[in-house]
Parts: sequence; structure tokens; C-alpha cells
Amino acid sequence: AAGCFQTGLLSGRHILITAGPTQEAIDPVRYISNHSSGKMGFALAEAAAEVGARVTLVCGPVHLPTPDRVTRVDVLSACDMLAACEAAMPCDLLIAAAAVADYRPEAIAPHKLKKNPGTEDGLVLQLVRNPDILATLSARPDRPFCVGFAAETQNLIAYATRKLLDKNLDLIVANDVADPSIGFNSEDNSVTVIDPQQHSTRFSQASKGLIARQLIAFIAARYHHLHI
Ligand code: CTP
Ligand code: CA
Repeated sequence: AAGCFQTGLLSGRHILITAGPTQEAIDPVRYISNHSSGKMGFALAEAAAEVGARVTLVCGPVHLPTPDRVTRVDVLSACDMLAACEAAMPCDLLIAAAAVADYRPEAIAPHKLKKNPGTEDGLVLQLVRNPDILATLSARPDRPFCVGFAAETQNLIAYATRKLLDKNLDLIVANDVADPSIGFNSEDNSVTVIDPQQHSTRFSQASKGLIARQLIAFIAARYHHLHI
């Protein structure tokens, strides 16, 4: 009951959630991407809508139905995801669950790339850095309460804490993607949430739906604490 009361504090708040992978075009038929399923971000959007928040879900290409009462904006690339998030601002809370590609090809070839005939030549792709969507929104004057995710295969807590501090976040959700029973493509998750005082709270293995509802309750309590 206490959890319900706290999550009720998000009612009417605008929550912006990023989810899924991004797709960075190489040429008209090829791209660079990753294995993110989008399930965690969609579960968070559903849980936030259930407690009465106004939810905008900006997502890369995923095969998931849109949760009830959620405004969905589909994008492909990281640059498009940033533009869609900026268009959705202002928001009260930002939850960045997307697995944004860190790099994109410097230029998109206008035609399908062809191999060099009669040779065994390899291919060197020049990549450039993508914008950091979370850090960009966290640095705005109308900065929302910012929650990041850190997907790591090693040094989970240390790397996640570094990201929390570097991106000036309110909370970071640390996710061990080396463990195949949780994370990227699995049905379950298990996470540790870290705050700026470097206190950590563990949510042990459960379905992404249950973890999402627990995370939304936790985020609501912290958000409320800053905004009374
Ligand atoms: N993120 C983002 N835009 C990017 C890269 C990351 O918004 N271009 C967000 C992710 O959605 C996540 C957080 O930043 O909430 C951390 O993402 P992660 O990939 O774990 O960390 P990076 O900062 O990209 O660092 P690295 O990949 O080098 O570990
Ligand atoms: Ca990254």
C-alpha cells in the first residue's frame, strides 16, 4: 500500500522513456545495431502509465506492442532519437533505457556498397561518435529528474557509478549483461540502482514487468523526495 501511495505521486507527471536499440545506416540496405530487445524500456513505460503518468516512449526498432495510454515515437538512429526526445521536452522525469549506438558511419553511402571486383580487399568503415542523449538532456536548463541505465560486462558498480557522476544523473540502474539469464534479450532482469551518494539498492532476479514496477515505485519515491 505504501508503494501504491508513492507511485501515485507520479500521476500527471510527464515521463520520457527511451528504449530499444538504435540503427545506424551504412548504405541503403545495411546498418550497425545491437541486441537490445526494448523489453525493459517498454515494461517501464507500461508501469509508469499504470500509475497515472503521461508517458512518451521514444524507441528504436523493436518488435513490441505499444503499452496502453503510452505515446510512442518510433525512430531509427541515435540522432533521430535525440531529435525526438528534444521535441518531446519538457518532461519531469527521463528514463534512458535505450541501447544507443555509440558510433555511426561518418556518411551513409547513397547506393549499396559493392565489393572491389577481382580483389580480396577488406573494408574500413570510418565511424564518428553519436550524441549522448541522456547527457544532453541532463545538461539542459529545464533538466528533468534523470535516470540512466548502465549495461556492463565487468566492473558493474564502478563503471555505473562513473556514468552517474559524469552524466549528472539522479539515479543509475546497473545491469550485468554478461549474465545470459538477465539483461538484453532475456525475459528476466536483476539490477542494482545507485544514487549520487553512492548508496545502492538491489532488485533481485524477477520478470522485467515486476522489476519495472519496483523501479517505478523507487524512482517515484526519490523524485518525490526532491520535489516536496
Ligand atoms: N546513452 C544515451 N546516448 C548515448 C549513449 C548512452 O542516452 N549516445 C544512455 C543510455 O541510454 C544509458 C546510459 O546513457 O542510460 C549509459 O549507456 P551506456 O552505453 O551503458 O554507457 P556509455 O555512456 O555509452 O559508455 P560506454 O558504452 O563507453 O560504456
Ligand atoms: Ca554505450
